[in-house]
Amino acid sequence: MKVALAYSGGLDTSVCIPLLKERYGVDEVISVVVDVGQPVEDLERANRLGEEIADHHIVIDAKEEFVEDYIFPLIKANGNYEGYVLGTAIARPLIAKKVAEVAFREKADAVAHGCTGKGNDQLRFEAVFRAMGLKVIAPMRELGLKRSEEIEYAIKKGLKINVGKDTPWSIDENLWSRSIEGGMLEDPAFIPPEEIFAWTKSPEDAPDSPLILKITFEEGVPVALDGEALRGYDLIVRLNMIAGEHGVGRTDIIEDRVLGLKARENYEHPAATVLLSAHRDLEQIVLTRNELRFKMSVDAAWSELAYQGLVLDPLYDDLLAFIDETQKRVSGDVTVKLYKGSLQVLGRYARTALYREDWVSFDTAVEIDPADAGGFSKFHGLQARLYRSSI
Ligand code: ARG
Repeated sequence: MKVALAYSGGLDTSVCIPLLKERYGVDEVISVVVDVGQPVEDLERANRLGEEIADHHIVIDAKEEFVEDYIFPLIKANGNYEGYVLGTAIARPLIAKKVAEVAFREKADAVAHGCTGKGNDQLRFEAVFRAMGLKVIAPMRELGLKRSEEIEYAIKKGLKINVGKDTPWSIDENLWSRSIEGGMLEDPAFIPPEEIFAWTKSPEDAPDSPLILKITFEEGVPVALDGEALRGYDLIVRLNMIAGEHGVGRTDIIEDRVLGLKARENYEHPAATVLLSAHRDLEQIVLTRNELRFKMSVDAAWSELAYQGLVLDPLYDDLLAFIDETQKRVSGDVTVKLYKGSLQVLGRYARTALYREDWVSFDTAVEIDPADAGGFSKFHGLQARLYRSSI
């Protein structure tokens, strides 16, 4: 039997390799690393280990696709689940698709992942794997090994994993966000130590002078920083550094997992904070009130599906079709100020803005005659008057 394994180079997915052979009778394990912008050291370690312990190792660069087909739609949809920018969530289906493609190409009998039975990631991977008609093996969930047992097993198998140096935290990182959980953080009252953060400075250590930055959007996606045109991936990498330096983009939330468990999650996502705030602001000036109200519920429905990893549900594309239509007018510039952990929008410009200075101004009178509002005013709140006169 041949299996394609979604591989990260971490402890869980590494012990999966010998476990698949010993406990599931697998003859050939193909480890598949999908690059969605995780740190280079992690990728290098994964490739080194994969080459060494798997029968066949494959690396797939999916960074461009991650940005174009997952992060850009997320920005257009103002992606947000209970305050989470959906970084881990949005990457899982892409990783699953890439692993599935390898499985088909290599004529594997099944696919495998290293997720445990308590989280969302197992659901996200498997929803895609099963929709693509693949058989799934989940050794970590099925064998229920404790972390200490895993470490013992890894040592017995001679896997060169630097467990000793491992932090107590479980970290998942890609271009869009860094998720930190586990260890002492499982006590929701425990105050996160500074050491869990890698992308953001603490506001106290951030520069004393603010940074003012202009972000340009075209049809809902960011295309330039301070007038310099950048490809999506480079723009996000750069913005993560700039905003992280100013301490922008930390979140500490209690999150409702799909299974119903409440979990304490810490996240870092400097670029996401800037881009989502700026994008929302730009929508506010170009979309109508009706569009904004309706889109808010569409965005929430999209975010819910994205969180659950249900990107193959037809509703996911249905919602995106609506969202894309609205984004045709979402082009323009937003100026933001980054200062010691805070982000403030200072100004915005859009050619297609519905804002008319001469219409709204206190000082000029054009097109509309304020006196016309007199009749409107008499009807406004009519039902409250009816109600009050009835009691
Ligand atoms: N709670 C987040 C989610 O469900 C992050 C999960 C992070 N995974 C991890 N192995 N640390 O998307």
